[in-house]
Amino acid sequence: MKTELIVALDVASVEEAVAKVKQIGDAVTFYKIGLELYSAVGPDVVKAVKDFGKKIFLDLKLHDIPRTVERAVKSIGSLGVDLTTIHAAGGRAMARAAKDAALTFGERAPKILAVTMLTSLDQTDLDDLGIGRSMSEQVAALGKLACGNGVDGVVCSPKEVAMMRQTLGAEALLVTPGVRPAGAAVGDQKRVATPADAVRAGSTHLVVGRPILQAEDPASAARSIRAEMESCR
Ligand code: C5P
Repeated sequence: MKTELIVALDVASVEEAVAKVKQIGDAVTFYKIGLELYSAVGPDVVKAVKDFGKKIFLDLKLHDIPRTVERAVKSIGSLGVDLTTIHAAGGRAMARAAKDAALTFGERAPKILAVTMLTSLDQTDLDDLGIGRSMSEQVAALGKLACGNGVDGVVCSPKEVAMMRQTLGAEALLVTPGVRPAGAAVGDQKRVATPADAVRAGSTHLVVGRPILQAEDPASAARSIRAEMESCR
């Protein structure tokens, strides 16, 4: 499967989102809209980006009772998004409810990804939560739980991709943020890998934000990341 590049559209308004998508043009076909932008401007931004013919990853990390998640995924699916996220910690019934809601869209069904443990958490947080496992055991267990209940894949760090591929099998989508081309600013990301590393490890989608959005020429930054991704196939 060809690894796809997704650009994290981390901007503050619909106008800014549209300006970036226009500026980047055909160098990028897939955009991630996150909780911050969606909470600020709502579904209008999804429609605005889709009007340019782009695919959408709507990353809202749903975590609620199954019925609520099912209805939220129905609303998300009606926006015509391609990928969306839930928390694996919502359990098997919530995962099933999300997938069942997605499947009502037939061929246009959004794929469901699970977030296992947020990368902002560490072993101390696991201990605080009373989880008596190591971080990697917990990440693997939650990934298995979600994918064993209909979820299509997980969001994980490039450092976890190889382990997740082994745990979840060949079909799982493995979507990885924390990607930085060699020489790019790392920002607040702690565990980064280059695009080539992530592709070789088995990522199906790379999520890249600032190295593209903040580049002087975002389209050419995106093209050079795609060239690096192509070069290691
Ligand atoms: O700018 P940068 O390339 O770091 O953007 C990465 C994007 O992926 C951001 O939207 C960030 O919120 C998201 N993300 C992440 N790490 C995770 C999950 C999501 O960086 N574990």
